[in-house]
Amino acid sequence: MKRWNLIFLLLVLAAGLAIGAGVSMLHNGLSAHATPTAMEAFLARHARHLAIPADARNERNPLAPSDQDLQVALEHFADHCAPCHGNDGGGDTLYGRGLYPKPPDLRLAETQKLSDGELFWIIGNGIRFTGMPGFSPPHEPQDNWKLILFIRHLPQLTAEERVEMERYNPKSLRGHEKDYR
Ligand code: HEC
Repeated sequence: MKRWNLIFLLLVLAAGLAIGAGVSMLHNGLSAHATPTAMEAFLARHARHLAIPADARNERNPLAPSDQDLQVALEHFADHCAPCHGNDGGGDTLYGRGLYPKPPDLRLAETQKLSDGELFWIIGNGIRFTGMPGFSPPHEPQDNWKLILFIRHLPQLTAEERVEMERYNPKSLRGHEKDYR
């Protein structure tokens, strides 16, 4: 094949891919209630992985789990994270359902298999173009490492712990408590 023919073919392919990706992202009139397509979710997760520097990804949590640190993080998570992620980390909350992309279920393998360093980077910096805020500053590194202990604990969260967290959920109007569960 002549060189120019090959270049033309590649340009047509690239344009096709760009149109496909555009149509995929513009579905549902850009409503945040929609759920991202599998392709968007795949591309976003891999792009994020590549964007986090390897040094940061390889960091290990300097804290070993202790009852005291887990308790601090449980209260912190209930206050700062549960409005979107839910006390149980499932993400099925008022804000979570209305975000695009939605907060993932933090108890599942997709999140649990992220390294400590990757979780630390995400909590500190947030995730651009999503509802996930960057928390450092004002969080100190220790605050985020404790939160990571708690994220690792989420798959074993007991019903008592979940009920206890309701005490620490931000309160506004009475009757809205169920939004954090
Ligand atoms: C305003 C809503 C909101 C708040 C508050 C929030 N998050 Fe998130 N979070 C999100 C969204 C949305 C995503 C998904 C982003 C994406 O798809 O890339 C997310 C993703 C994450 C992830 C990545 C999980 C994964 O598998 O990719 C972690 C870890 C996380 N949040 C931890 C926290 C912690 C810890 C807090 C509290 C200190 C918190 N978040 C507060 C909305 C929020």
